[in-house]
Amino acid sequence: MAAVRKTRISDLTMRVHPIPPGMRVADVADLFLADACRDLLCLPVVQDGRPLGVISRYAIMRIFLRQYGREIFGQRPIERFMNSAPLMVDIDADVEAASAWVRQHMVLPVTEDFIIVEQGHYRGMGMVTSLLELMEHHVALRGRALARANASLKASQAHLVQSEKMASLGQMVAGVAHEINTPLGYVRSNVELARDFVSQTSSALVASRNLIHCLLDERASDEEISGHLMTAAEETESVSQSGILEEVSPLFDDTLHGLEQISDLVVNLRNFSRLDRARVDHVNLNESLDSALTIGRNLIKHKAEVICDYGDLPSVECAASQINQVFLNILTNAAQAIADYGRITVRTRALADTDQVEVRIRDNGCGMPEAVRARIFDPFFTTKPVGQGTGLGLSISYQIIEQHRGSIDVVSTPGEGTEFVLCLPCRQTASAAQNPVLAEAAGSEA
Ligand SMILES: Nc1ncnc2c1ncn2[C@@H]1O[C@H](COP(=O)(O)OP(=O)(O)OP(=O)(O)O)[C@@H](O)[C@H]1O
Ligand SMILES: [Mg+2]
Repeated sequence: MAAVRKTRISDLTMRVHPIPPGMRVADVADLFLADACRDLLCLPVVQDGRPLGVISRYAIMRIFLRQYGREIFGQRPIERFMNSAPLMVDIDADVEAASAWVRQHMVLPVTEDFIIVEQGHYRGMGMVTSLLELMEHHVALRGRALARANASLKASQAHLVQSEKMASLGQMVAGVAHEINTPLGYVRSNVELARDFVSQTSSALVASRNLIHCLLDERASDEEISGHLMTAAEETESVSQSGILEEVSPLFDDTLHGLEQISDLVVNLRNFSRLDRARVDHVNLNESLDSALTIGRNLIKHKAEVICDYGDLPSVECAASQINQVFLNILTNAAQAIADYGRITVRTRALADTDQVEVRIRDNGCGMPEAVRARIFDPFFTTKPVGQGTGLGLSISYQIIEQHRGSIDVVSTPGEGTEFVLCLPCRQTASAAQNPVLAEAAGSEA
């Protein structure tokens, strides 16, 4: 695309023939009537190529309106009536700077245009209205450029948020895979043991079945019967010696427990992402916290004991997967703030008088100085080493809570710990339009 050339002062220049200072007022008045000067508010008075001033249509009119004005003053030289301090703009001046200067110095009502000079020499006249129109055009162009920049900024922000979501999804999946792997390991070894048990007991079963066939067979000799009896007795003895019978029941109990743990994780993962449910829901935040704690267990369990003090909560209308993400971000930060092993306390309660639910997540980690605390919701602010934190966790959380018309506050003391206090209204209808997710749901309800 060809670049659009910026308009310059020279483009505004009108080649108006200047008048000499000695020209008579009556002759100047006639000039104003000529077609060439029709649009001009004033004419330049120039001597030896240098502008001396301007005489305006308005000034002439005032002279002629006086009693016998034309007769008395018409023959006098124009220099006696001109404005000798006119607006002057250099031909090479920047249009925006010139326009700002003219706007600042022009006298209202506007009765004069401005002289355009080049190194002090008269080059032509410029109309104030053209300059202001040009500025308007520039401002509109700049507005469009700003709108384009804003759109592309929004697109790249959305892209960043998406990549952040993918990164945290990756971390979460890795954590969950790790959690599933432990019970899966012992379920597998239990099943292998059970297979050995089955193969051992099946030998005893075959020996017993052979003995029974032999006993039922009228033609079987005593030797044959005692042979089968011996084998069955040996096989049965070996099974009971191996302790299989005592072990098999707890083995299956363990296996079932492992399978329950796996299915628990899968249910929580499903609740967490709420992939199988409407995006906006009436959610019990205690369950959301449990989901986030289960999903983050891999990280949290090595860093802190978690104490949950849940109140009786009314359901909260929210995008569950977003709120779960907020809880996970704050819990992850809490665990990361603890150096060795500490405590994370999660408290919930209903604020009946305001129809809100309050969630407090407190840790006894490193805490933050005021300078850090003031910036934690800024996008990309992180105190973690390069590669460890993107600094987007809390800024995303803040946006989510804001879109839900809630609040998020933090109290922190260096060396003592940090507490995040979240409040969410139970109902969202009034602000549905603010949140694309909530708006979508409101639209589908309508
Ligand atoms: N519980 C906390 N205790 C101490 N500092 C905290 C706590 N929570 C957040 N912070 C501070 O706030 C900063 C920003 O947190 P945020 O979650 O936005 O980004 P991050 O944890 O650094 O990176 P990311 O979450 O993207 O991995 C952190 O780097 C940390 O300095
Ligand atoms: Mg974080």
